[in-house]
Amino acid sequence: MAPQIDVHIREVGLRDGIQNISTFLPTEAKTAWISAEFAAGVREIEVCSFVPVKLIPQFADAMDVVRHARTLQGLNVSALVPNSKGFERAVEAGVDEADYVISVSESHNKSNVRRTPDESVEDFRRIMAMRNELPPDRRPKVVAGLATAFGCTFEGKIAESAVRRLATALAEAGADELALADTVGFADPAAVRKLFAAVAQDLPGMTLHAHFHDTRGLGLANVVAALEAGVRHFDSSLGGLGGCQFAPGATGNINTEDLAFMLESMGLRTGVDVEKLVGVRGIITRGLPDEALTGSISRAGLPKGFHAARAS
Ligand code: COA
Ligand code: ZN
Repeated sequence: MAPQIDVHIREVGLRDGIQNISTFLPTEAKTAWISAEFAAGVREIEVCSFVPVKLIPQFADAMDVVRHARTLQGLNVSALVPNSKGFERAVEAGVDEADYVISVSESHNKSNVRRTPDESVEDFRRIMAMRNELPPDRRPKVVAGLATAFGCTFEGKIAESAVRRLATALAEAGADELALADTVGFADPAAVRKLFAAVAQDLPGMTLHAHFHDTRGLGLANVVAALEAGVRHFDSSLGGLGGCQFAPGATGNINTEDLAFMLESMGLRTGVDVEKLVGVRGIITRGLPDEALTGSISRAGLPKGFHAARAS
């Protein structure tokens, strides 16, 4: 029987974590990373991006990586898709979940996917139509992620009304779930509480994910604020890798080991074994020796008397 989970951690290091790194992480290292995190209890992993290989050669092996991930029973295998072509490839690979990305900031959307947000919404409608025509056993879940929801390097502050409008448009287009992403680390706990509460109020029953970067040190504080707003799905990267080459100033995601430690310490079950997870960092340091990893738990160790969260 699957263990009881209070809060879902989705590892995005194999996508967000390495999309910005020009050194190719060998396929064997990627698959070893996935298997090792799975063994540490992680059950949701975004394993790659279906983007043009010319644009991001790091994902040249996306098909092989998905093929491996699908051998792990009980793993929710997801991949980023920036357009309908990426969605077709993700379906062919057999992902469980496709994560569409659309930026609330028009400037970032143009930089990232070369179109306006309205054009991205149009493409999203095509994706949902394609999905709904697939045989039921081949239909992936589709999560729509709103990048730069808390601010943008090009445009600065992003209006709450713009986020709410786009979230509603994507929900009306059929998104199964939505993610609000702080792509460049502009969020603070008060902003997080307010925006998640507003979108939750607009879209009752919609599952919301939080995607935070720790650019200005507020990542875990933002997680606590999102928890208070009812969010139970968080993205993070092992070793705190991360960043977007199309968003100036973007740096690493919140760190998976530290996130799991915090949640377990708070009595929230994640299903993750923190010590085992820390051990997985070695795969990255060997495969990407030039990358600096972040992390407090890997440095300080677990506190004496720490125990994983238990059923209350
Ligand atoms: N996967 C593989 N190939 C793709 C593709 C995809 N998802 N989307 C388009 N292509 C191919 C097209 O078939 C076409 O090939 P051709 O030259 O052989 O005919 C070529 O790429 C150009 O297609 P086009 O539709 O004009 O795309 P574009 O060059 O305008 O790029 C995106 C648009 C969305 C594909 C690109 O900007 C992108 O991948 N952005 C994502 C960036 C990212 O990953 N950011 C970080 C995550 S937030
Ligand atoms: Zn990100």
